[in-house]
Amino acid sequence: METTMRMTKSRGKSRSAIFFKRFLCRPFRIASVIPSSRTLTRRVADKIDFSEPRVIVEFGPGEGCHTREILRRMHPSSQLILFELDPELAQHLVQQFRDDPRITVLNADCATLAAELARRGLSHCDYIVSGIPFSLLEPAKKRALLRAAYDVLAPHARSAFIIYQVTNELVGHCRHFPRNESRYCLQNIPPMFVTKFYKAPQPA
Ligand SMILES: C[S@@+](CC[C@H](N)C(=O)[O-])C[C@H]1O[C@@H](n2cnc3c(N)ncnc32)[C@H](O)[C@@H]1O
Repeated sequence: METTMRMTKSRGKSRSAIFFKRFLCRPFRIASVIPSSRTLTRRVADKIDFSEPRVIVEFGPGEGCHTREILRRMHPSSQLILFELDPELAQHLVQQFRDDPRITVLNADCATLAAELARRGLSHCDYIVSGIPFSLLEPAKKRALLRAAYDVLAPHARSAFIIYQVTNELVGHCRHFPRNESRYCLQNIPPMFVTKFYKAPQPA
């Protein structure tokens, strides 16, 4: 028991170290010195309905803290597709999740989402979870990405785009999503808004 706890702690430390090292190399792309907290990863996963097989996409998984929480809850027939732009973090994710056939790691810009889904025979996904630093994107890229996220979400009442961010500025850029709900999570460094944008106007 004690050995298992020691191993888990040391794995956590080495993941944080990889993340910090990549932050030092690309501060504006990584945009955070430490991975999201356990509370934040739970709050984000709570926004997903895991009762049925789903296609879930994650933008900017970093060292995989949200990914592990989603995988822990995910239906055995679901798929999780990761878009991680940083090559070292993407390689780390490939190693970390190599034994789980539900997961696909792409070392790619999340702007290629529609094309990557189409390559896999998928016209839609059910959820997109995003951790990329939207506030640092140039306006045209931000607009295109938010439009693409809306377009690829399946047209059903549960499908949603879920983001966690220091400010809630994206609400103003997401008027094409008919509904949203936000909650502030203080138990993270720094505290974050978790916002869920629904594709459908009516609740399920
Ligand atoms: C703030 S970190 C979040 C990491 C992790 N999700 C967490 O919560 O700790 C942002 C991550 O998004 C990745 N990223 C930034 N822009 C991206 C893009 N356009 N496509 C895919 N990944 C991107 C960065 O490499 C980094 O791993």
